[in-house]
Amino acid sequence: MRYREIIMANFMRLFSLIPLILIALLLTRPGLAQETAEIVCIQCHSGLPEIYSQPIRLWRGSIHAENDIACHDCHGGDPQDAANAMNPQRGFLGVPQEPDIPAFCGRCHVGVMRDYLASAHGLALGRGGPTCVTCHGNHQVLKATLELINEKSCSRCHSYERARTIRAAMQETEGLLVATETRLNDFKKIGSNTEKLEKELFSLRNSFHSLFHNVNLETVNKQAARIQLELKKIQAVLTEWDQAVQRRKIAGALAVSVMLLIALLAHLVRKTYD
Ligand code: HEC
Ligand code: HEC
Ligand code: HEC
Ligand code: HEC
Ligand code: HEC
Repeated sequence: MRYREIIMANFMRLFSLIPLILIALLLTRPGLAQETAEIVCIQCHSGLPEIYSQPIRLWRGSIHAENDIACHDCHGGDPQDAANAMNPQRGFLGVPQEPDIPAFCGRCHVGVMRDYLASAHGLALGRGGPTCVTCHGNHQVLKATLELINEKSCSRCHSYERARTIRAAMQETEGLLVATETRLNDFKKIGSNTEKLEKELFSLRNSFHSLFHNVNLETVNKQAARIQLELKKIQAVLTEWDQAVQRRKIAGALAVSVMLLIALLAHLVRKTYD
């Protein structure tokens, strides 16, 4: 009896240590952010005057920092060698001039750059058109949302009217997209096979989010209508699934009722014979 208690107590003690062990493992794991902070660009620039150190502060909250895209990924250079960090021979690109910014960002965002260059904005590059940083900023780039289309930002160069119409067309589609995602997730949670629909939704989501940069009302309207049509097809499948679940619930309830009835009858029969 006593042995069992001792073993049990030790087991419980071990069990209560598990969260602590997990925390310790998390803390000692070499974090990505920690590695990034060690690059010489950040070490040296932290001690420089505001104009050269401010980019670090802005970059820290950005989606690029979150994804481990650091100074040298954009500006080039050698992040390990302080003496040669900004040597052009180590690939240092310096600060891009305005007309070079789309290609600067477009090394990684190829599709967006292509759409942008073909748009009214890209065609006005260097002649009063906006570049990537006009709308997204340079160091404090955040996850892109339709909030970027707002009167303050879009009426700097022309009236807000066309921007407003484009945003409205996109907002409606975004609403449908999010609603469809939520419904599909609910089915996933109860174990339905959602793989095929998820793939369709993923590709629709991608074509939707690459829609904006052509800034052409007609194209946006046409594509938004096509995407909405596809989303409604997915919604129709989900509605069928809903009905199937409903039918299964009713059938289940029916089966339970029949069983209860049989049990009741059996009970009554036994009682009359007792
Ligand atoms: C040893 C210190 C030091 C290191 C390491 C360093 N920098 Fe600099 N950086 C400076 C100084 C000082 C300036 C301002 C004077 C100048 O432009 O040379 C500067 C300027 C810059 C500028 C602006 C240049 C311009 O033309 O205005 C950029 C961009 C830049 N650094 C990026 C980087 C990147 C990226 C790295 C890492 C690969 C890096 N720096 C590493 C000291 C450093
Ligand atoms: C996503 C790409 C990107 C990353 C990451 C990035 N920069 Fe920049 N940086 C730019 C662009 C673009 C400009 C030119 C800005 C403009 O014209 O608006 C610039 C400009 C600068 C300048 C010139 C002064 C200024 O603010 O315009 C310095 C200095 C600089 N960056 C340093 C850094 C340092 C240090 C880091 C790392 C903490 C860094 N940058 C990370 C894109 C980037
Ligand atoms: C070295 C590659 C690289 C460069 C150069 C680069 N980015 Fe990125 N960017 C990324 C990665 C990786 C992500 C995060 C994954 C994603 O969302 O695509 C990202 C995310 C973004 C996002 C958010 C996307 C979303 O899903 O909402 C925007 C906006 C963005 N970058 C704009 C820019 C701008 C503007 C520049 C130039 C100043 C730039 N990027 C330069 C790699 C890069
Ligand atoms: C006139 C403003 C504007 C300009 C110029 C602009 N963008 Fe955008 N960008 C937006 C808006 C608005 C969205 C969000 C669209 C949405 O939510 O569907 C966006 C979305 C993005 C995304 C996310 C796309 C995705 O698939 O989720 C990336 C990456 C991006 N922009 C990069 C860039 C780059 C790189 C450039 C320059 C070649 C650029 N943008 C020029 C306004 C702009
Ligand atoms: C830096 C200046 C600038 C900013 C900021 C700017 N635009 Fe533009 N925009 C232009 C120029 C230049 C043109 C081409 C001339 C014209 O059609 O007015 C243009 C054209 C357009 C067009 C017409 C495209 C066509 O094919 O007819 C739309 C729509 C548009 N912009 C939407 C936006 C939206 C949305 C924003 C904010 C996210 C924005 N713009 C921010 C400069 C700007």
